[in-house]
Amino acid sequence: MTLNLSYTLQSCKSSLATYLVTGSNRGIGLEYCRQLNQRGDQVIATCRASSSELDALGVRVETGVEVSSGESVLSLMKKLEGVHIDVLIQNAGIAEFNSLSNLDPESVIRQFEVNALSPLCFTKAFLRNLGKGSKVALMTSRMGSIDDNTSGGSYGYRMSKVALCMVGKSLSIDLKPNGISVAILHPGLVSTRMTGFTQNGITPKQSVNGLLARIDSLTLENSGTFWHSNGETLPW
Ligand SMILES: NC(=O)c1ccc[n+]([C@@H]2O[C@H](COP(=O)([O-])OP(=O)(O)OC[C@H]3O[C@@H](n4cnc5c(N)ncnc54)[C@H](OP(=O)(O)O)[C@@H]3O)[C@@H](O)[C@H]2O)c1
Repeated sequence: MTLNLSYTLQSCKSSLATYLVTGSNRGIGLEYCRQLNQRGDQVIATCRASSSELDALGVRVETGVEVSSGESVLSLMKKLEGVHIDVLIQNAGIAEFNSLSNLDPESVIRQFEVNALSPLCFTKAFLRNLGKGSKVALMTSRMGSIDDNTSGGSYGYRMSKVALCMVGKSLSIDLKPNGISVAILHPGLVSTRMTGFTQNGITPKQSVNGLLARIDSLTLENSGTFWHSNGETLPW
């Protein structure tokens, strides 16, 4: 009887974890919200503007969240005062493919700001909502792997994602004493607006299946690992 009760309490606890997802109105972010909601987790979906697909899920949606704006992040901090977050999924990102012949420094800076600096500042801003056992998931890309770079180009995107990998590694070290673990995740090549809905990619559903398996298996021991959604460990 005692064992059954403790099992029930444990399953209640795990099924009621609270996940905050940035960039949740479409693509991979939307699919995170869909699968988390389906499995009974609490979702705080943040986005600049919602979508009919996100609204249809019936989860908590916080609009007006521009991850690179201090004012916008501050406003969200106020709304989430006292809310415990179990998993912070920083998914919002942009890709502007600058080649060497078409280099646009402003575009490079913009990608660096949204893809690398904002997730670092966002994590710092919401540290007070995290606690022992909380997790941070950073959506980086295999294009942020130096070892794996065999095709060159994409300066701004590659630079921003390699910086995000470094953010994740340092956070995994700095947050370990607080009992917070960090996953550095590549979703695979996924058919979303970012990739022009490529036919060569996997679906957001397939990708998020794998990504959630990685986040579920994240511990303080394997914190700071760079994973493909399929479970493969990627080289830096
Ligand atoms: N798709 C892939 O194959 C692939 C591969 C490797 C890594 N990734 C990474 O996975 C993540 C999700 O990609 P995706 O394919 O789902 O892309 P997507 O379909 O283009 O969606 C990007 C999401 O990020 C949001 N966003 C962009 N800039 C933002 C900002 N400044 N503030 C707040 N939200 C912002 C977008 O919101 P709006 O609708 O308001 O623009 C949208 O919700 C990204 O970090 C991406 O780099 C994707």
